[in-house]
Amino acid sequence: MTMTQAPSGSSSGTPGGPLLRVRDLHTEFRSEDGAALRAVDGVSFDVEPGRALAIVGESGSGKSVSMRSVLRLLPRTGRVTAGEVWFGGQDLLRLPERQMRRIRGRDIGMVFQNAMEAMNPTLTLERQLTEHLLWHGVCTKSEARERAVRALGDVGIPEPERRIRVYPFQLSGGMRQRAMIAMAIVTRPALLIADEPTTAVDVTIQRQILDLLAGLKDQGTGIIMVTHDLGVARYFCDDSVVMYAGRVVERAPTRELLSRPRHPYAAGLLGSSVELGSRDRPLHPIPGNPPDLASRPRGCPFHPRCDRAVLPRCQDEQELIQIGGARAVACWRAEDGHDDQ
Ligand SMILES: Nc1ncnc2c1ncn2[C@@H]1O[C@H](COP(=O)(O)OP(=O)(O)OP(=O)(O)O)[C@@H](O)[C@H]1O
Ligand SMILES: [Mg+2]
Repeated sequence: MTMTQAPSGSSSGTPGGPLLRVRDLHTEFRSEDGAALRAVDGVSFDVEPGRALAIVGESGSGKSVSMRSVLRLLPRTGRVTAGEVWFGGQDLLRLPERQMRRIRGRDIGMVFQNAMEAMNPTLTLERQLTEHLLWHGVCTKSEARERAVRALGDVGIPEPERRIRVYPFQLSGGMRQRAMIAMAIVTRPALLIADEPTTAVDVTIQRQILDLLAGLKDQGTGIIMVTHDLGVARYFCDDSVVMYAGRVVERAPTRELLSRPRHPYAAGLLGSSVELGSRDRPLHPIPGNPPDLASRPRGCPFHPRCDRAVLPRCQDEQELIQIGGARAVACWRAEDGHDDQ
């Protein structure tokens, strides 16, 4: 498989620099009574070419909204209020929508949490995939069908020559999910954003899809993988970002994060994860619930649930503090060394 080179300048402008650079992203929703709900509250991360970044965090922590903000695919009530999203030497948040449409789906492939959103129920897979390729000018009409069939085969759809003629509703949930992944990778995007791409498929297929994505990664594709499953992060993702209440609380190479989480929330997440807990220790769910966005606690949003919180210090804003070369933690205690075991 040859990778279509990303369009000129598709690293963020600096040679050898990150493919995607998200800086201080803020996204709000308007509630019915007009209040602003901060779903994404100052998120920053980089995605390097040929590497996969996991974004993990409890339900509602802002993972999907962050991804939708990057792609500028928010619902009407949502709005990016600040931040920068550098890709291909351009800030995507400042591009005219017409140019954004060219990038979305071609240079940045997307797998949504809800499979049906990406598929047109009235078109066969053949039409969806070939029209997608032709609209983006990726290849000629005569090549498009062959490429589409190959993409379906790559994601583990048996008899792709035959299956390409069906409509999405004729496929099982797992097959549909695979078809959606085929749609996301058929243009050979420089960056792939996958929001829980393997939740709806069984373990064998999950493995097959991750191995396929690993192949793309080896060819230089940068991947963002939103996942609840720390096993997926461990197996596949070089780097990880842990989100809580719309913020990044810890960022680190996955291996370092999983072997020794430094933010109390990251540690709690690990302790409550089935993947790790089922092996050799009991599960310890984090007591309490994430904050209501309308009444966010001051300072560290996790402090009301945190067994290491010290007041009033944790009610101060917590900046991400660089610890060692590649890790950053939004907790003063991590720097303090108090969480050393
Ligand atoms: N259309 C919307 N209108 C108002 N609030 C929204 C909307 N979409 C999301 N939110 C809020 O934004 C916050 C972040 O949601 P998001 O979907 O990003 O969570 P998530 O981390 O992807 O969760 P999950 O793991 O369940 O997918 C949540 O509090 C959610 O209620
Ligand atoms: Mg989500």
